[in-house]
Amino acid sequence: MYRILEILRREQGFLSGEDVGKQLDISRAAVWKGIKKLREEGYEIEAVTNKGYRLILHDTMYNEKEISQGLLTKKIGRPIYFYKETDTTNGRLRDLALEGSPEGTIAVAEQMTAGRGRRGRPWEAPAGTGVWMSILLRPSILPSEASILTLLAGLAVCQALEEDTGMNPQIKWPNDILLNGKKLVGILTEMHCEMQETHFLIVGIGINVNTTEFPEGLRDVATSLYIESGRTFSRKNILQRVLLNFEKLYDELMKAHCSFKPFLSRYKEKCITIHQDVKVLGKETFYAHAQDITEDGELVVIRKDTGKREVVFSGEVSIRGGK
Ligand code: BTN
Repeated sequence: MYRILEILRREQGFLSGEDVGKQLDISRAAVWKGIKKLREEGYEIEAVTNKGYRLILHDTMYNEKEISQGLLTKKIGRPIYFYKETDTTNGRLRDLALEGSPEGTIAVAEQMTAGRGRRGRPWEAPAGTGVWMSILLRPSILPSEASILTLLAGLAVCQALEEDTGMNPQIKWPNDILLNGKKLVGILTEMHCEMQETHFLIVGIGINVNTTEFPEGLRDVATSLYIESGRTFSRKNILQRVLLNFEKLYDELMKAHCSFKPFLSRYKEKCITIHQDVKVLGKETFYAHAQDITEDGELVVIRKDTGKREVVFSGEVSIRGGK
């Protein structure tokens, strides 16, 4: 049926069932069956007597086929597993990774029923509103170095959104993306490793794209591209752009032998945490002034209680007076 879709997509105008059938060496009845299936998937296909079929392209179509169409990456996003509904794409991709799926495999969902956020929090992922996806990576990297990939994912998403929307999202260290001070994107990296060996990493990215309203408890802290601009955006375009940006940065990281140094100035340019008063939530919670980011991507803070300099490796930081 997807071969029928490709023919209609190429044609852009009407094509008779007979012509489609000839190109694929199938009967007109088989073409009709394929058209019915495509319509069931949500494709709008006009059928006019004596003219034939015509595909009406909508930017809103969002499925495996549409995402792979025009995707410019070599490895990231190949293959794509698309779920109309699943519990969590990070979980789905973990299963696929354990079955041997290659690096670059992605899991994308229209809707997640048990989306996972950081620190065991749930992640709201209703249908039609956002990009919910996970990327499988198999880098030769020590488990202790893996947090660099989280920073890189944040940078890739930030760049992609800027390119695609013209807006100016910013990174809250390590990898939340905010727009006008509210959370637009969440990233959850999960690792499968032993003491000295990383088997694989799953980078889960949630982007609030066309959400019109958030539930009560989230309204003050979360936002979407739609809420900030009044415009709707193609989730497919955003997803493709994120994958492309991520692939470029990931290749660069591999060439740099997993050093964060080449990315530091780009990251700092987008990071709003530096020079802010923050609350560090980790094993210990304390207030501090964020001073800088190290060449390894850690946050340098001056503690309010002791006045001492401390390096924060991972965890969560909230900006005081902000989110
Ligand atoms: C956060 O708490 O900020 C992280 C949110 C991560 C959400 C994404 S959506 C795709 C992927 N699958 C999940 O279940 N969670 C991540």
